[in-house]
Parts: sequence; C-alpha cells; structure tokens
Amino acid sequence: MMKAILARTYGSPEVLTLEEIEQPTPGDDQVLVKVHAAATNPSYWHRMEGKIPMLRKMYGDPQPTDYAMGGDCAGTAVAVGKNVTRFAVGDAVFGAAKGAFAEYAIAAEKNLVHKPESVSFVDAAAIPTGGLTALQGLRDYGRIAQGHRVLIIGASGGVGSYAVQIAKSFQTHVTAVCSTRNIEMVKRIGADAVIDYTQQDWDGAGPFDLILDMVGDRPFDLYVKNLTSNGRMVSVGALGVDMMAFMAKMGAYKASEEEEKVFSFVAQFNTDDLSTLAQLMASGVVKSVIDRTFPLAETAAAMALQGSKQISGKVVITT
Ligand SMILES: NC(=O)c1ccc[n+]([C@@H]2O[C@H](COP(=O)([O-])OP(=O)(O)OC[C@H]3O[C@@H](n4cnc5c(N)ncnc54)[C@H](OP(=O)(O)O)[C@@H]3O)[C@@H](O)[C@H]2O)c1
Repeated sequence: MMKAILARTYGSPEVLTLEEIEQPTPGDDQVLVKVHAAATNPSYWHRMEGKIPMLRKMYGDPQPTDYAMGGDCAGTAVAVGKNVTRFAVGDAVFGAAKGAFAEYAIAAEKNLVHKPESVSFVDAAAIPTGGLTALQGLRDYGRIAQGHRVLIIGASGGVGSYAVQIAKSFQTHVTAVCSTRNIEMVKRIGADAVIDYTQQDWDGAGPFDLILDMVGDRPFDLYVKNLTSNGRMVSVGALGVDMMAFMAKMGAYKASEEEEKVFSFVAQFNTDDLSTLAQLMASGVVKSVIDRTFPLAETAAAMALQGSKQISGKVVITT
C-alpha cells in the first residue's frame, strides 16, 4: 500500500484527497519510481478543474475516471520491467511518471533519465515540463541562434525561468518581462534586461529575433510588429487570458496571413531532450528556481498556489 493524492471529482484544490491505495506494478517497459519530489504544473490545474472539454474527454466526463494526479518527478527506481535496459533498481531518475503525487509512481522508460548526482531531487523534479517546453519552444520553433535578441514574456514562471537560462546558453541577449517582485530573480538567472510590465509595456522595446510568450493577452499582430524581418514569435501559453478564449484566438489566427511568423506547440516528452536538460543542470548552466516546497499531505495548498499564477519558478511536493 502507499499514500497518494487522488482527484475523484473535478473542482478546486479541495477535491484532492490523500488516500491509501495499492502500490502499482510496472509493466514490461516501465519503471516503478519511489517518488522523492514532484512538481506542480498549470496542466495539472486544468486537469483538476475539469473546465476544458478536450481534457474532460481524456480524463472522464462528467467526472474523472482516472483519479491520478501529477507527472513531473524525481526519485529512485525500485522495480523495473523485463524490457527496461537503461535503468536498474537503485538508480536516481527524473522525468514524468503517472500519478507522481504519491509515494510511488509508474513511468515509461522513455520518459525518464538519470538524475545528475550534483542535482537535488527537488531541483530535478521541477524541470521536466517547464524545461522541455522552454527548450523545444526556443530551439525547435523559435530557431534560436547566437547573437539573437530574445524577448521572454512570463519570464518568472515555471517555463520562463528555464527559458531565460536556456536562451542565455545559446549566447543571446535576453529581455525578460515580469512583475516588480520578480525583477531580481530574473536578473540573477541571467536576463540582460528586464521589463516590469506593471510599469512599462514591452511593445516598442524591440525589434526581437525571437519572442517566447507565456501570457497570450495581446493581439498576434502586435507581437509580429515587434519582430525583425526574419523574427519568430512562439506562443507557449495563456497566463494572462482564459484558456478557452486563447485557444479560439489561436485557431482564428492560424488562418491569417501572419501564420509563418507565429508558432504554437505542445511540448513533447522524449529521452534526448530530457538528457539535454540533465546535462544543462549537471554543468550548472541551468538551475531550478524553487518558490516553495510542500509535503505530500499539503498538495491541495501547493495546487492552490499553482492556480494563483503567482509562482516564481516552481512549486515542488516532497514525499
Ligand atoms: N505549450 C505547451 O506545451 C505548454 C507547456 C507548459 C506550460 N504551458 C502554458 O504556458 C503558460 C506558462 O506556464 P508556467 O508553468 O510558466 O506557469 P506558471 O509557473 O504558473 O507562471 C507563473 C508566473 O507567471 C507570471 N505571470 C502571471 N501573469 C502574468 C502576466 N500577465 N504577464 C507576465 N507574467 C505573468 C507570474 O509572474 P509575475 O508575478 O512576475 O507576473 C508568475 O511568475 C501556462 O499558460 C501554461 O498552461 C504550455
């Protein structure tokens, strides 16, 4: 048996319950991870609330049929399936595991990599989704290159705090957009310039070769106006607007003539990119910014903080 956080109904963080459930058994291609740390993410908030029709289709309608919560985590492999070749019992790992808000969770082998020894379980648990999103957004969709001038909007959050550091690793000039309370933090992690959006608009601060946007509250032609002629805007998220309205806006935009400058994507887990993140952390180029940690029993409080959109860096649950 093990302790796990379950979401048996959709709603606010009060729906989360700490329960004793059966410990899962890994399949042939899976690893059973003893979870030491697991991060919160906006996508788990949306899963918990159940307000987005597409997610309800995935998790159950009118109520969830899959009660597990959490994904990003770090821990120790305690059992491995017969086809697993990259991990052995006792290995320290990080990546994504189903139902990671629990003492034990099951991960597909391909969604895990070894945790560098110099990186704590908390710091490793924090990075998977935010780090992969930042890496894929900047490198694959933004085509980031040395010397680029990069604008990162929403630079202080779970994606942005990794994006600032990863963009700097490409030897670029980074302008971070955040509120007053996060100015020192984004400078500390490498931003060359900071725009406090409570005091100043980023419109007119460019032109930029690349804009990575986590906020989504401005018309797309405004981003394009602030790009160089070959510049790209990568739309990651919608911190500043209702997610459903944002999805509709993006759909309409895709049909317009500016499409070749504006990109949106959903980050994909893969072993190569997780390994890249592990190397960036092992070499000290990228560090996790941890806002707060919570014990497993206080996961509802951790998720309430996630829902506030006020996290500086990441929130991590420890077990
Ligand atoms: N496309 C994908 O695959 C993908 C993957 C991951 C996440 N996402 C989406 O990307 C977005 C960001 O995710 P996240 O994990 O970074 O979220 P997060 O950690 O919750 O972001 C929190 C940060 O957002 C900042 N913020 C809030 N409102 C802002 C505004 N109006 N302007 C500028 N900054 C603002 C806050 O800082 P201040 O107090 O300084 O404002 C806070 O530091 C979310 O919408 C998420 O759903 C998409």
